[in-house]
Amino acid sequence: MVNVVEVLDVEWRGDYVCSMNISETAALIAHRRSVKPIDMDADREITDGVWQTLIECANWAPSHGHTEPWKFIIYRGSSRQQLAGALQDAYKADTSPTEFKPEKHEKMGKNPLYAHAVIAVVMKRGDKPKVPVLEEIEAVACAVQNMHLAASAAGLGLFWSSPAVTYGEKFAEYLDLGEEDKCLGLLYVGWPKEGKEWPKGVRRPAMDKVVWK
Ligand SMILES: Cc1cc2nc3c(=O)[nH]c(=O)nc-3n(C[C@H](O)[C@H](O)[C@H](O)COP(=O)(O)O)c2cc1C
Repeated sequence: MVNVVEVLDVEWRGDYVCSMNISETAALIAHRRSVKPIDMDADREITDGVWQTLIECANWAPSHGHTEPWKFIIYRGSSRQQLAGALQDAYKADTSPTEFKPEKHEKMGKNPLYAHAVIAVVMKRGDKPKVPVLEEIEAVACAVQNMHLAASAAGLGLFWSSPAVTYGEKFAEYLDLGEEDKCLGLLYVGWPKEGKEWPKGVRRPAMDKVVWK
């Protein structure tokens, strides 16, 4: 696999850019991984300092019109059990009896407890209707990526999960969302279990996704 750091011109540095080393930045981006909830140590504490950093990094995301439409509802401790129940209820409500899978229902009840914390990611629509909803969603995705990068830099596991129920009305009711707000899924957060290797990443070649004109 191509090493991102090797192919970058690490010497280039404009006078106006911050002192961050571009090769370190690229390495962090390539290092970011999704760590499955089952591989997390639910009991290991995440300090207030780490939480603060994750949230501050998310908050530096760009947004059209400075709407800053991200909102994070963080479930820790016993509230994870309550969240698990809400996911199960939403799955029951949103799924026809013929499509209902008991094993999926059961998994929904367990997943939040594998992680130390679960974050419901919300796009909170502001009062700028000229900003398209799509751009508000894009901004929230940028915020999540910022948070995910910070987590990976700290060695903290994070997993973005978006089962269909998280987009549904029943779950939106549980989160007490406004009519124009949208849940964009769940982030499972936790330190990887001791001895777990950091997952390996795979990508198809970057240049195959570029059209030069
Ligand atoms: C918006 C979004 C939603 C996702 N939802 C799911 C999901 O529901 N289930 C899942 O297994 N992975 C989900 N993922 C995570 C991807 O599986 C993961 O990012 C991908 O496998 C690449 O792995 P990496 O993040 O370690 O590079 C989601 C990722 C994004 C960006």
